Amino acid sequence: MKIQVIIGSVRPNRFAEKPAQWIAEEARKREGLDVELLDLRDYPMPFFAESMAPARMQGKYPNEVVAQWARKITEADGYIMVSPEYNHGYSAVLKNALDHIYPEWNRKPVGFIGYGGVGGARAIEQLRLVAIELEMAPIRPALHIPTDVYSAITSGKPDAYAPLKANTERFLDQLVWWTRALKTAREQGGK
Ligand SMILES: Cc1cc2nc3c(=O)[nH]c(=O)nc-3n(C[C@H](O)[C@H](O)[C@H](O)COP(=O)(O)O)c2cc1C
Repeated sequence: MKIQVIIGSVRPNRFAEKPAQWIAEEARKREGLDVELLDLRDYPMPFFAESMAPARMQGKYPNEVVAQWARKITEADGYIMVSPEYNHGYSAVLKNALDHIYPEWNRKPVGFIGYGGVGGARAIEQLRLVAIELEMAPIRPALHIPTDVYSAITSGKPDAYAPLKANTERFLDQLVWWTRALKTAREQGGK
């Protein structure tokens, strides 16, 4: 089962890459998971401005970077999205990456990691709604990194992630379960 971890910030001094690298390592400890880190900096897509909705494009994307992004996303069976909270919403760069393609996301699970004043909860709740419209299955547990843990991670404290340990196991348990279930169902075919 292939899991992709998407870094949802492209700022030069972004925090997002830290928990993204960490969760990728945690997920790699699970047997049977092939985990890849995806950086939106590597996919500098234009702001979405196509005449047709990606749901109707049948996977044919005119922009070459978008086509590369689509091919990459197709490879995975499940996703972890790490998003900042900007003005109580998730990042625009992540929304753009979500909107550009469609069937590649369908019938696959996604788990979210957020951080900030309320652990990114407002951004993640919005992402859940968007995921449903992309025909994804957002898993119930999310990893909300509180400000004290954010500061400990930023200052490189050893064991900074320790307070997240129990939730991380539940998060990965659920992601693995849904990834296996939906992969099996997709392979069986049908509507
Ligand atoms: C434009 C902007 C808006 C922000 N709004 C919020 C917010 O609504 N809630 C919050 O908890 N933090 C907010 N912050 C602080 C971010 O959580 C913090 O800067 C975080 O590191 C951003 O993620 P990134 O470093 O991965 O880009 C905001 C930061 C920026 C740059």
